[in-house]
Amino acid sequence: MRRTTYSSALIEAILSLKEERDAIILAHNYQVAEVQEIADLVGDSLELARAAASQECSAIVFCGVDFMAETAALLSPEKTVLLPAQDACCPMAEMVTAGEIAVMKDRCPDGAVVAYVNTTAEVKAVSDICCTSSNAVAVVKSLHASRVIFVPDRNLARYVARYTEKEILPWEGHCIVHDRFTPKDVFRQKKLHPDAEVLVHPECRPDVIDCADHVFSTSGIIQHVCGSLAEEFIIGTETGVLHRIGKTCPEKRCFPLSSGAVCVNMKKTTLELVLAALERMEPKVTVPPEVAVPARRAIERMLEIA
Ligand code: 13P
Ligand code: SF4
Repeated sequence: MRRTTYSSALIEAILSLKEERDAIILAHNYQVAEVQEIADLVGDSLELARAAASQECSAIVFCGVDFMAETAALLSPEKTVLLPAQDACCPMAEMVTAGEIAVMKDRCPDGAVVAYVNTTAEVKAVSDICCTSSNAVAVVKSLHASRVIFVPDRNLARYVARYTEKEILPWEGHCIVHDRFTPKDVFRQKKLHPDAEVLVHPECRPDVIDCADHVFSTSGIIQHVCGSLAEEFIIGTETGVLHRIGKTCPEKRCFPLSSGAVCVNMKKTTLELVLAALERMEPKVTVPPEVAVPARRAIERMLEIA
């Protein structure tokens, strides 16, 4: 199969070393095209977490950001998890700490703590359950508690609040990419493409969500475009999803809500770094057992629900 015009020697070296190491390559939908092309699976956070837990292999090369690789390490402690771009972080995941959650729990002792998977392992460890963008509503609905402390994304928290009677207490974190979209961006694109459906990620602000036809996770957006009868779409998420859409259903016309919607951390992984990670079996992502045990419990509870 022809993969890309990228150096075929580099690609061959990665694929052969991957076999030798008994490794799989998981890539998030925001990764650069050439990294998506060499991956065994490209997906959203939930799909990648499930794959990390279920795939039989000795090592996982995680092409994404730190919390995703950490989640893989929590779910598969027996596997070596590599994060080729060691400094690829999610700024939102740093916006709440375990200590701040302890303070919130003191103030609201009857509140269940729901941690978006975009959090550190330490935060997951003090949370009741995790969620991703694709299952946040189902996770919150599954809880017995009538009050929910939702960390760290205020926008996802407010999106969930639309679908539940429970009282949602949002933490004030946000994604620096999605929080920048405005209704003006939607109006501008709608003027250019009046027939296009507007699809946005739930990390967008409430006023942007109000302008959207549908709200989905990254893979949800891709699946919707490919399965829809509509021909044109305005895509309100990071521009990396456009590569997979173009590959899966090239006949559809998609326009980014903003061409500047780029997550710089997601773009740090290169083919050279993937090869270097497989050669050195570094940088490894590990979580100390005292954090890993409670953090894994919060993720596994989520996986049991949706
Ligand atoms: P998804 O789980 O929808 O892929 O979202 C992850 C993310 O970081 C979005 O910014
Ligand atoms: Fe984090 Fe936003 Fe980048 Fe997703 S797009 S990894 S939430 S900074």
